[in-house]
Amino acid sequence: MGKDLGKTAVMFGGDSAERPVSLKSGAAVLAALQRAGVDAHPFDPAQRPLADLRAEGFERVFIAMHGRGGEDGTLQGALDLMKIPYTGSGVLASALAMDKWRSKLVCQAAGLPVPEFELLDANGDLAAVEARLGLPLFVKPANEGSSIGVTKVKTAGGLRAAYDEAAKHDKLVIAERFMSGGEYTVGIIGRGTQLSALPVIRIVPAGEFYDYDAKYLRDDTEYRIPSGLSDVAEAAMKKLAHSAFAELGCRGWARIDVMLDADGKQYVLEANTSPGMTDHSLVPMAARAAGISFEQLVVDVLGMARFG
Ligand SMILES: Nc1ncnc2c1ncn2[C@@H]1O[C@H](COP(=O)(O)OP(=O)(O)O)[C@@H](O)[C@H]1O
Ligand SMILES: [Mg+2]
Repeated sequence: MGKDLGKTAVMFGGDSAERPVSLKSGAAVLAALQRAGVDAHPFDPAQRPLADLRAEGFERVFIAMHGRGGEDGTLQGALDLMKIPYTGSGVLASALAMDKWRSKLVCQAAGLPVPEFELLDANGDLAAVEARLGLPLFVKPANEGSSIGVTKVKTAGGLRAAYDEAAKHDKLVIAERFMSGGEYTVGIIGRGTQLSALPVIRIVPAGEFYDYDAKYLRDDTEYRIPSGLSDVAEAAMKKLAHSAFAELGCRGWARIDVMLDADGKQYVLEANTSPGMTDHSLVPMAARAAGISFEQLVVDVLGMARFG
């Protein structure tokens, strides 16, 4: 299936807060590429210099890293300079999608619906923010993932503690209006020159929201495919995901999170340019529902590797 893709480094590990997740994604990607006949090898940039890629004749990189140093444009820039094709988005889209505040500004300017949000200022009037956005509301670091540092604020005055928690992870912290109508995610995958949206997944966490435990540790998070949306709403959500992908300038593949408000209106929550790839992850799950095996998925994503 993937024999002509050349010597491939699967990059995973790294030293971001999401290292443990990346270790799982990378192991799954590596095994699947090898099963598909790709000459794939593990490469942990926290343990060796990137220059080894050239020295060892690697022709492509599958980036299975999440968060800082893997998903944020920095690794992408290094690989651009080394002229080694890599999976997924380039420097700008990676950096932009990683920054929830600035990616919301771009989506908003492009006319895409995003939940109402505010950048928080430690010395600002947090009570006024609570009053404007209403309770409950969500607080999160702008640059993080896996729900790390995310809090659902339910009681008046709770914004301060939530801000402090998020601020441990990033100097930019945002607050967002609560979306009560449900959570969905849409994988966008390039195959050749075609981009297509995978079936929408409805995510139903057993607890308050889709937090770190619900993502990786608990087994009571419910994933629905088909999503339960009407055909019209599912098509609209795929279109919205395509638009977000395009406006942020993504390449190759990405996963766009979408939420509904109480009236069922759709909003772009965020774009993930290096989605989780464990065998429990969402993109592989949606691919499977579309008849695309994990092996086919990783070969398709690797086939879209580019630099520059
Ligand atoms: N505005 C919101 N309304 C309701 N739930 C939210 C909102 N923002 C985030 N969440 C919940 O928090 C989770 C993590 O938020 P998200 O913005 O996707 O950050 P991360 O990059 O950490 O995944 C979401 O999957 C969702 O369950
Ligand atoms: Mg998310």
